Order: sequence, then C-alpha cells, then structure tokens
Amino acid sequence: MQTSNPLTSTETGDRSLLKQRLRIDRLVGDTERQDTEPVFGSDVIEGLTRHPKTLSPKYFYDDRGSLLFEKICELPEYYPTRTETAILREYAPEIARLTGPCELVELGSGSSTKTRILLDAYQSLGYPLRYLPIDISGGILESSAYELMEDYPSLQVHGMVATYELALQNLEPAPLPTRAIGFLGSTLGNMTPPECDRFFSQITGALLPREYFLLGIDLHKSTPVLEAAYNDAQEVTAAFNLNMLRHLNRKFEGNFDIKEFEHLAFYNLEDHQIEMHLRSMRSQTVELKKLGLTVDFAAGETIRTEISRKFDLDAMRDYLNSKGLTPVQSWTDPQNWFGLILCQSSAN
Ligand code: AVI
Repeated sequence: MQTSNPLTSTETGDRSLLKQRLRIDRLVGDTERQDTEPVFGSDVIEGLTRHPKTLSPKYFYDDRGSLLFEKICELPEYYPTRTETAILREYAPEIARLTGPCELVELGSGSSTKTRILLDAYQSLGYPLRYLPIDISGGILESSAYELMEDYPSLQVHGMVATYELALQNLEPAPLPTRAIGFLGSTLGNMTPPECDRFFSQITGALLPREYFLLGIDLHKSTPVLEAAYNDAQEVTAAFNLNMLRHLNRKFEGNFDIKEFEHLAFYNLEDHQIEMHLRSMRSQTVELKKLGLTVDFAAGETIRTEISRKFDLDAMRDYLNSKGLTPVQSWTDPQNWFGLILCQSSAN
C-alpha cells in the first residue's frame, strides 16, 4: 500500500525553487529582539525605579510569550482577532479594488494569518502579488514566507527582520504602482499617545504621496466585555503577563519569584485603556544582577506592563487626517467592536 507523503515541499528541502521568489533583509540580529534600547536594559532600570513602576510590553514576547499570545487570540473572551478577521473577510475585495495592484507591507507580520485574506482578494482580481512582511523575529518571518509562497505560486516576498522604525527608514520604492502598509491587530493601542505621534511621523516619512495605510483598531465598548477579554477563564492572559517576569529573570539574571506576583487587568474608563499590571502579593526585594539593580516592592504595589487603548472611529479618522493620512474608507463589524481604516498619504 502506498502512503502519501504528509510533508510539504518546504519540509522536504525543496526550498531552492521558492528561494527565487524570496529576499530577506536582516536589519537586526535575533539576539537583539528586545534590545532596541541604546543601553542594554536601560528601559527596565528606568521603569522599575519610577513610581508607579512600569515595564515595556516588548518583554512579553520571548518564545513562550509569543506562543501564549497566539493562544490568547483564540480565546472565546478575546474578541479582537476574530472580529478583525471577520471584517477583513468581508471587505478585503473592496480594499483590493480601492488600492488597485499594490505591494502589501505588514508591520508585525508574525504568522501572516490575516495577510492571506488580503492576498486572496488581490489574487481574485488578477493583480500581481508582492508582500513585504516586517517582524523582529526572523524565524517566524522566514517560515511564514515559505508557507505563503507554497500557497501563492506567483507571490514575491521581500521580508525585513527589523524594528518598525528601521524597516520604515529602509523601504525601497515599491516595484508595483502603489504600496499599502498594514498595521493590524490594534497594536497601535499598546502605544502611549507620544509613541503614536512618533510612529505616525515614521509612517508618513515612509509613504510616497497617495500610497496607502491600513489600520486596525479596537473600539470603545462596555467594561465587562473589555475586562473579560483580559481576564479569561483559562487564565492564559495571566500566564502571558506573569511570563514577563520569567523572561526578565532569564535575560537579566533576575530573581523574581513568579508565585509572589499576580495578574491584574482592568479598564481605565477615563483614559479608555485596559491596563495590565503585575501585583506584588507581599513586600519583597528583587534583584536583576546583569543590570546591577535591586528593587523594593511594597505589599500590593504593581508594575504596569501594558496599556491597550480603545479608540473612537471618528476621532481616529480626525487624528489620521491631522497626521497627513486621509481616510478613504472605514469598516466595522455589526457590533462596532473593531474598526479598519484605509487611508492615503497626503504628504508631499
Ligand atoms: C498585541 N496587542 C494588540 C494585544 C492587546 O490586546 O492589546 C496584547 C494583549 N495583551 C493581553 N492580551 C492581548
């Protein structure tokens, strides 16, 4: 009896053919994944010595953290991923018609799952397929690129392993009539307002006049829905939050005792943001040897590890306009939980 080979051609080593359609520029090494600070760990020292204490959400994403985030995206309470995906499924053909043939750039491409919906739409219209994924993790970028090229035989991929800033500074002119930079998943919500302003200067600096920007944002909604999304019953979000301490222990030779901290997530109605914290369950002292840092915690004191801002669609359209990005069209789901905005650079 003949058995079929369950391995794909990428796994059987047929990458040489696919390679002809792939270029990857590595602007940062894998060891620099979180080391975007000018001085190693300077942001950790700054965050843990200020009151209230904070840490950057970038420290969520070691290998375990990235896996936990993927699990979060599938949780019944975590509505953003499936809501944005449903909007894309419904409106990707319209997006493709609006932009015409274009190079798709994706910031924080990860496993490129949502990209497929857009590629399908461009393919159905007979447009050439060109994808420029940008991610700080070279491993996932490369494996996703090969999977995509297997499934889309005409797809050309030019990936960049880089921070957003570096990648945006190094974009070459698009070889297609136009370009659309996608920033999906409401990752914008994890930036403070000054970080957002800086980010949009980089975006408009990278886009030529009339090139496109496609933004996904999580919208205002009731507090119970929001708080459930960040306090799931299976406690995956809690594990994701606590994993940051494990990651810091490894990276900076720390001695955080994970059992002595607990996950806390609540909606700050005034600032329209979910806040994730790690709360010290007793008074304790923690050391991060590689940073020469000793930190005292009072019982009940917290470290804020993430903000996840929730937006108003009209206010975001006005904001984008003020940044030189003219909204062309926006879409939401029937509950108005998530928004997608396609805009065009007006800068010249
Ligand atoms: C990546 N980012 C958009 C997620 C969010 O919802 O803000 C990160 C996350 N944090 C907890 N759950 C998911």
